[in-house]
Amino acid sequence: MTDKTEYFDPEWGYATLGIRAAEPRTENMEHSASVSLTSSHVYRSAAEAAAVFSGQQPGYIYARFSNPTVEAFEKRLAALEGGEACIATASGMVAIQTLCLALLKAGDHILASRGLFGASINLFNNILSRFGLETTWVDPTDPAAWKAAVRPNTKLFFVETPSNPLMELADIRALADVAHAHGALLAVDNCFLTPVLSQPLKLGADFVIHSGTKYIDGQGRCIGGAIVGDAQRVGKDIYSYMRTAGPCLSPFNAWVFLKGLETLALRVRAHSDSALKLAQWLKTQPRVKRVFYPGLPEHPQHELAKRQQSGFGGIVSFEVEGGREAAWKLVDSTKMLSITANLGDTRSTITHPATTTHARVTPEAREQAGITESLLRISVGLEDIEDIIRDLERGLA
Ligand SMILES: Cc1ncc(COP(=O)(O)O)c(C=O)c1O
Repeated sequence: MTDKTEYFDPEWGYATLGIRAAEPRTENMEHSASVSLTSSHVYRSAAEAAAVFSGQQPGYIYARFSNPTVEAFEKRLAALEGGEACIATASGMVAIQTLCLALLKAGDHILASRGLFGASINLFNNILSRFGLETTWVDPTDPAAWKAAVRPNTKLFFVETPSNPLMELADIRALADVAHAHGALLAVDNCFLTPVLSQPLKLGADFVIHSGTKYIDGQGRCIGGAIVGDAQRVGKDIYSYMRTAGPCLSPFNAWVFLKGLETLALRVRAHSDSALKLAQWLKTQPRVKRVFYPGLPEHPQHELAKRQQSGFGGIVSFEVEGGREAAWKLVDSTKMLSITANLGDTRSTITHPATTTHARVTPEAREQAGITESLLRISVGLEDIEDIIRDLERGLA
């Protein structure tokens, strides 16, 4: 008899994987995963310590790179994404940084989508550039533009799909083909859709990046991230970088994320259903100029969204008539929606990207990303959709 933690059925769906894959269980036979809060592990002898440190004997060592709770989260997320390996990181930003520093070297060239989260734009432009990594910005919706921008030293394609906050989609299969034809690798930030609605690795991407802070946590508690991919690059090369450089996830946050994965499928589908209703309602509002949501038939990539995703996600962006003043007025008129920049929470949030998430990027980068002063982003929470709409109705009246 086993304790069933090893049982894995390849036919499992996303809800089951999120609950049952890689269940950590100690000899105390906990039903709900316990958290392993220890910075190091002990051995019965010097010989055993040496055997574990050298890898001859399995065992945990030191929580910078080896912890049972973090490992359980990594294995479960890898199972959900269909990857061979996962490395959890201290934040979503550090997942992107780790990917680049572990796999690239000075002189390498990156192609990145011009529609990225503001801090990601700054990471490529202001930090990685100082270490000899040059980035060229490309239209995420046009694979031909990526092909035209490739150079002999291009090593990495980096894209968010859908993008934050304009909900532009990249054709993952087409970009993977262009990248691979030129010896480059494709990384997809899958934070908006999660593996429940999109599995980029199955479409040819080499890496998936997550900010666990968003839907994986799902209740706005902890910061963390992850990189998922193959056994060599992620399981060995990035693991080895983690072991030395140490941008690791705390076991407590890993435990919160592990519990978050248990309800991920249910939550993400509910966020997505409500977001579609909100987008349809916003479209009927005279003071709304434009709604950005791939679930609407008029979204330029609605067909691609239907093909490559199994849902449209929980984020809706829209432009109001009247620029910053009108946008801020609408934000200030809400009584329930939280004015904050986080997303993927049970609570709906409303954000003015130009002055928050994208405030620190240059005006040129903001314009290039299509972030106007009239733009608002809503992360649709799990409250009753009628209440979310009523909260916005006042400001749009
Ligand atoms: C699409 C996307 N990627 C990455 C990040 C960064 O994640 P973190 O805040 O966990 O560092 C964010 C944060 O908002 C995001 O929206």
